[in-house]
Amino acid sequence: MKKVIAITKGDGVGPEVVNEGIKILNIISKYSDFEFEFKDAPAGGAVWKHFGTNLPKKSFEFIKSADAVLFGAVGLPDLPPGTAESAILKLRQELDLYVNLRPVKLFESMKNRCPLKDEFIGSGIDITFVRENTEGLYANKGALLSDEKAENLMIYTRTGCERVIKFAFEHAKTRRHKKITSVDKANLLYPSKLWRKIFHEIAESYPMLDCEDIYIDAFCQWLIRTPYKFETVVTGNLFGDIISDEGAFLIGSLGMASSGNINPGNVSVYEPIHGSAPDIAGKNIANPIGTILSVKLMVQESFENQELASEIENAVEKSLFLGRTKDIQEEGFKTLTTIQMGDIIAQELKMILKA
Ligand code: NAI
Ligand code: MG
Repeated sequence: MKKVIAITKGDGVGPEVVNEGIKILNIISKYSDFEFEFKDAPAGGAVWKHFGTNLPKKSFEFIKSADAVLFGAVGLPDLPPGTAESAILKLRQELDLYVNLRPVKLFESMKNRCPLKDEFIGSGIDITFVRENTEGLYANKGALLSDEKAENLMIYTRTGCERVIKFAFEHAKTRRHKKITSVDKANLLYPSKLWRKIFHEIAESYPMLDCEDIYIDAFCQWLIRTPYKFETVVTGNLFGDIISDEGAFLIGSLGMASSGNINPGNVSVYEPIHGSAPDIAGKNIANPIGTILSVKLMVQESFENQELASEIENAVEKSLFLGRTKDIQEEGFKTLTTIQMGDIIAQELKMILKA
């Protein structure tokens, strides 16, 4: 099966971690039915400095016509905030990537790195956050009106809510405990009232699922106190940004967390959730696992191969016993560079696929 993958390495540690993602894709290409062709689609700060745009036309053309996109991170400390970063926002809007999928899974071997005590980890943390990715406050309908006043409009539409909530229900159906939690602020915000109404309308078609809703403020504390009680969590853009980052800290390092910006059936963009990490760029110490697990999401969502996706996750899990990058270092484990971590995971995956 031939697939074209657009590669946007981006800035800072972006190229370092994406190279490790490509390593995994090459192993898949060699040892499975997939055959990947890569197309470079540069975007971000370095590109802006060169061409005066953070998303050159040619890059966007490659991205639009690809089967999927692997994206590093964009942002340079010597550019005004947003100069590079708006490239990813443009992609979300232009490609209508309305689902932001962010799994948060604490591997057994990473328990010591979780900031929570064992009693709060309970039976384990394995949550998929499904965040609406195109509406609400982040749709950027607003203005800095003066030095005294600024505004943003929070607009939710029925179409916007329905499509992401349905996606979340379909995902929840595939999970073990068949539980879905909707997070909103329906006691105060009108967009949340509409969201909650639609959530319950859709719930009627999924009697096999255990559904609940929780207010955002309460959810923030339950996520810390009883993370094991959540499985699929669906929410709007603003709340989703914050709670999925909070969730990502529970799995040991920001460098471990993956994401997909998805338009089901169309080109989708997969990226680690971390930024360009200028403080560690160029040192070959960044953790590539967030990117490699983003490749896993690509295989699962865009190429619809759940079995292969699970094998990638298994390879990561096994590799964590063999060594670790500095951000997840623990006594008794060898410290690895970015490249070494990628090599070990690629080797593990190769052994799994050859078996
Ligand atoms: P960041 O995620 O780049 O870094 C936060 C902290 O986490 C730093 O101490 C960094 O060293 C560490 N870290 C990040 N990734 C790591 C990895 N793979 N391995 C080990 N440690 C890692 O967030 P920050 O510093 O707020 O942002 C830096 C730049 O990235 C900014 O320009 C920001 O706007 C941009 N950014 C871009 C994103 C994107 O392209 N989607 C997402 C988030 C931030
Ligand atoms: Mg964020």
